[in-house]
Amino acid sequence: MSQTTRDGFGSRFGVLVAVAGSAVGLGNLWRFPYMVGNNGGAAFILLYLFFVILLCLPIMFSEFVIGRRAQANVFGAVNSIAPKSGWLSIGIISVVASISIMSFYSVVGGWTLEYVFKSFSPSFLTSNSDSLSDQFSNFSQRGLLPVIMHLLFLLISALIVVAGVKNGIEKYSKILMPMLFVLVILLAIRSLTLPGASEGVKFLLYPDFSKITSQTVLAALGQAFFSLSLGMGCIITYGSYVNKKENLFKISFMSAIADTGFAIIAGLAVVPAVFAFGISPDQGPSLVFITLPQIFAQLPFGNIIAISFFFILLIAALTSSISLLEVVVAYFTEELKISRKNSVIITFIIIGFFGTLSSLSIGPLKNILLFNKTFFDLFDYTSSNILLPIGGLLVVLFVGWKMKKEDVFDELSSGGSISLNKKIFGAILFVIKFMAPIAISIVLLNSIGIIKLF
Ligand code: PHE
Repeated sequence: MSQTTRDGFGSRFGVLVAVAGSAVGLGNLWRFPYMVGNNGGAAFILLYLFFVILLCLPIMFSEFVIGRRAQANVFGAVNSIAPKSGWLSIGIISVVASISIMSFYSVVGGWTLEYVFKSFSPSFLTSNSDSLSDQFSNFSQRGLLPVIMHLLFLLISALIVVAGVKNGIEKYSKILMPMLFVLVILLAIRSLTLPGASEGVKFLLYPDFSKITSQTVLAALGQAFFSLSLGMGCIITYGSYVNKKENLFKISFMSAIADTGFAIIAGLAVVPAVFAFGISPDQGPSLVFITLPQIFAQLPFGNIIAISFFFILLIAALTSSISLLEVVVAYFTEELKISRKNSVIITFIIIGFFGTLSSLSIGPLKNILLFNKTFFDLFDYTSSNILLPIGGLLVVLFVGWKMKKEDVFDELSSGGSISLNKKIFGAILFVIKFMAPIAISIVLLNSIGIIKLF
């Protein structure tokens, strides 16, 4: 695809929905509740919110600035601003992180697909935690079936990406996101009104700071980056498709609000029910799949709600996975000049392979450990807790120290069409240049043990 005929978003609503669609996904509904459960509840949520406001918003502005300025994929964008420099590592991290995230994301996408099918069976909805937990482990450890589901999920994502930005990504995101929001609110109401839910509410509201360790802080940072799709060029890539007149602040704020709102409501839907049903909150990745069917069992027309929920969760997962694939595909098409279709095929093969390893590592390969982690955990941990924070760090350093101040101003004020107060711009630049890089470095160094602050 040549630079002059690049695809782009068709409308303002389309951009917003696509960015929010990338942000809202399994990260909110599957990962956030179990992270909260594993990391002690309210204190983790507070840290998470702190990182979203203090770090993620400035990083999101920065990614949009780079992408829209350069109108190219991550490599091309960085190369056009700082040709042939070490900054190209942002491009490398982006492509590696996309592949690494997709290698477990599409496995969980496959689980979601399987749960859409499972929801059709009336016996699926039961109030028995043990039986639900057995159902999940029987399926996920089975070997072949979850691998097939993972490949199917990846195939659907790939087909949407072949269709391109306007006809694929934008079209599918528009209708279903609002529906998902309504459904999650409904689940939260049911969960909060279950007998015994109050213990869960306490867990979500009363922080126990003694539970905070360097790893919890890193996990909260990683979750914030992961949930907002930051630190791996996704917003740079989508930013490159955004019209020059669009207000980048508005898109960033609205996406961050939608994403955080979704995560909190998902927490309210899952955690009180976890306590009400006597499930241990630190189940890890299986938590949502064990808890939600029990809430559905407590609702009238439970099967229909379950089918709709898992189906829409699947769509939410797809709008995120296509944004992950797009990072790699835009790189292959624009930098390596491979056709869009072939780029998608190559990406499918790479992720298909690593995803299969990660899927099998829940069952048949669970004894193969690297750095004391299964493949699934390794892809998850490395991408969220290492690659995304480093990617985010490089992005803010790049915008703060390498890009021309006037260019950053020009992008943030959309070429002067938005009145951007010089003082506010100065404050944003200060956060981008100093605060964000220092904060991310402290969390990273502290988690490795090089400095010991908390
Ligand atoms: N933000 C997505 C989610 O919450 C996952 C994602 C991460 C998408 C990074 C793109 C980039 O599910």
